[in-house]
Amino acid sequence: MIRLLILGGSGFIGSNLIETLLHAGYTITNFDRPGTSPAHFSSHPAYRFVPGYLSDNSHLRNVFNQEPYDCVVHLVSSLIPSSGYDEFFNDREVNLTAGYEIVKNMMSNGCQRIVYFSSGGTIYGKNGKEVNSENDQLCPLTYYGYSKLAMEEFLKFSSRIHPISHLIVRPSNPYGSGQNLFGKQGLITVALGKILQNQPIEIWGDGQVVRDYLHIRDLSNAIHALVEKGIDNEVYNIGSGQGHSVNEIVTIIHKVAGCNTGVEYKPARPVDIPVNILSIDKITNHTGWKPEVNLEEGIAMLWKAMQLNEKRIK
Ligand SMILES: NC(=O)c1ccc[n+]([C@@H]2O[C@H](COP(=O)([O-])OP(=O)(O)OC[C@H]3O[C@@H](n4cnc5c(N)ncnc54)[C@H](O)[C@@H]3O)[C@@H](O)[C@H]2O)c1
Repeated sequence: MIRLLILGGSGFIGSNLIETLLHAGYTITNFDRPGTSPAHFSSHPAYRFVPGYLSDNSHLRNVFNQEPYDCVVHLVSSLIPSSGYDEFFNDREVNLTAGYEIVKNMMSNGCQRIVYFSSGGTIYGKNGKEVNSENDQLCPLTYYGYSKLAMEEFLKFSSRIHPISHLIVRPSNPYGSGQNLFGKQGLITVALGKILQNQPIEIWGDGQVVRDYLHIRDLSNAIHALVEKGIDNEVYNIGSGQGHSVNEIVTIIHKVAGCNTGVEYKPARPVDIPVNILSIDKITNHTGWKPEVNLEEGIAMLWKAMQLNEKRIK
């Protein structure tokens, strides 16, 4: 039985990952902001919620003092790709220095493994490549991407000087249930949300930007496969390995939803590089994992879930 401490487990990726790992028999402690624990886990005997703020060292010490953990999964980030300098600077304790405290607490807890959620969509940045492998140059163009690079380097450094190991994962663009319909990231979910509200889909630029989209179930299964294999001190891209333009995604969305509420094109953003696709050869070769959810089917599943949810709310 693996005892996991998940930092930021109440969010989109965390709640889906917890579901997968509880199902696989793991024991989960979720540390997240007070009042955020997903209600459907509350009665599960292998789930526990410890409320707290990552930037408060006493909260972090409290959760690490509760029991020994086999592995920490670090999902907390208060930044998104569009965050600017002010957010980066004001939130440096959450996104950077808390990482130092996490490692310190792992040492006193005896916990030797950390899985860190970096970003495959932003860490490669403007390196001149369209399909990126793990060893390609890292040239982030955003403060968000830079914060991921800084944390990756800190964890690699910590693994050299302390008896801990890191597993860095770089997801592409996950989509699926649990993602914020009204958020500022997640094209597929936000676009379906616009259709649900009978509003036009907003597109930055001409819609030719190509990205790699991955269903959240595939992402959760990939993390499960890596943790189960006990792979340490490695970096993995996790994506579909396929590229789709924003215009292609919008066409699929209109087809799945069976209606078209229009598209509103907005000025292109300088940080949106033309193409970003992840090579997934490494994780596939090391674990046998590969994505299973077809893009159109994944979008259809999400649309169905959103409509059911809307009916329940009304
Ligand atoms: N969603 C994506 O498209 C995507 C893609 C690649 C990488 N990632 C990375 O994966 C991780 C999880 O992403 P997500 O989409 O689930 O994000 P999310 O915002 O849905 O979840 C983050 C969680 O962290 C918690 N949190 C934030 N600040 C906190 C604090 N100070 N103390 C304690 N908890 C705090 C939030 O309450 C939330 O539950 C992030 O690090 C993100 O950068 C996300």
